[in-house]
Amino acid sequence: MVKFTYKNPTKLIFGQGQLSTLANEIKAFGKNILLVYGGGSIKQSGLYQNIQKELSHFNVFELSGVEPNPRVTTAQKGAKLIQEHNIDFVLAVGGGSVIDCTKLIVAAAHYQGDAWDIVIGKHIPTQATPFGTILTLAATGSEMNAGSVITNEKTQQKLGWGSPLVYPTFSILDPTYTYTLPTHQSINGIIDMMSHLIEQYFNEAEHTPVMDGMIESILRTIIQYAPIVVDNPTDYQARETLMMAGTVALNGSLRWGYLGDWSSHALEHAISAVYDIAHAEGLSIIMPNWMYYVMPKHIERFEQFAKNVFHIHKHTPYETAKAGIDALQQFWKSLNAPTRLSDKHIDASCIEQMAKHCTENGSFGRLEILNFDDALAIFRNSL
Ligand code: NZQ
Ligand code: ZN
Repeated sequence: MVKFTYKNPTKLIFGQGQLSTLANEIKAFGKNILLVYGGGSIKQSGLYQNIQKELSHFNVFELSGVEPNPRVTTAQKGAKLIQEHNIDFVLAVGGGSVIDCTKLIVAAAHYQGDAWDIVIGKHIPTQATPFGTILTLAATGSEMNAGSVITNEKTQQKLGWGSPLVYPTFSILDPTYTYTLPTHQSINGIIDMMSHLIEQYFNEAEHTPVMDGMIESILRTIIQYAPIVVDNPTDYQARETLMMAGTVALNGSLRWGYLGDWSSHALEHAISAVYDIAHAEGLSIIMPNWMYYVMPKHIERFEQFAKNVFHIHKHTPYETAKAGIDALQQFWKSLNAPTRLSDKHIDASCIEQMAKHCTENGSFGRLEILNFDDALAIFRNSL
């Protein structure tokens, strides 16, 4: 294993009715609150109205309309609001996009230049306005990590950045807030959290049995509970199970001793920078194809995955390894997720551009280090 230090300062407030703790959590920071949310799902569900009641003793300013795949221009707007209104605390209410955008807002508010400088690492944040989250979609883990993914429409780039300054102070996770998700969004969340577990499972370390066991068990749990949520969106136990799985999948606690591969995310971010498709749709297409591509050099690892996640035992290690990937792809297909780029009407015309995107800073991936030609081959195999 690689040496590591682990600290996660986000306070997790989990369970039905936990919104009642909101005012108490915020009051020490001050009176001026910036509420950040997306396209309006929180108004339809009634959560917005309940938050307003809880915050009746605060001065609440708003930034609405944060896009799925949040734009740097929206973050810039939010940063300006913090400066103009002396905002003391920011509250992000929504899914990963709203939370990611908020992370850039709170850092950019203390920088006079362009917010994009922070995303590309030209400016390292030295200060950030404190913020909390109320999660409405179990997926990214952004509610308990310090990462953020931002799109720049002008340059057609979608890039991740992070800073220890942008861990949420607290995150309220009430599983009932995910009841209103359209089925395809619940499925997107399930695929995203599974992909985070898989990215970490296929890592650069040689021996990680504690983490392996935890990841395999969480993957089996998600596979068990995903169909329940699809059939019955208001099944509380299934919703709370998936919400916890999504958070733990990417809060750093399953990455002790390695960083993980993250090739599929690099490949996916290149797709959704060029085509405005959901992050999870891109993953469900790319990840199995990345697996097929690298598996022949890592048969033992993929065999372990097949055996311990899908209970598959074939005649040879290769057959077992391959059947494990087939099973994953089949499981996502059974949830109606796309498996080929053509399912999303993406053809070969842009694959060179996408391969360039993922190799902008050189090679990528850790289980297997990949280059431009590898990226091109994986995109071609995914057509
Ligand atoms: O905008 P509103 O109206 O709120 O609607 C949203 C949005 O249209 C809707 N939604 C959310 N909660 C809902 C709901 N609709 C009904 N009921 C609810 N309870 O769902 C749509 C998608 O929301 P979004 O926030 O975009 O989804 P997700 O949480 O999957 O976030 C995706 C973004 O996160 C990035 C992705 O690249 C993508 O940009 N990621 C962030 C990561 C991180 N910070 O650690 C890691 C991930 O790998 C990922 O890259
Ligand atoms: Zn993801």
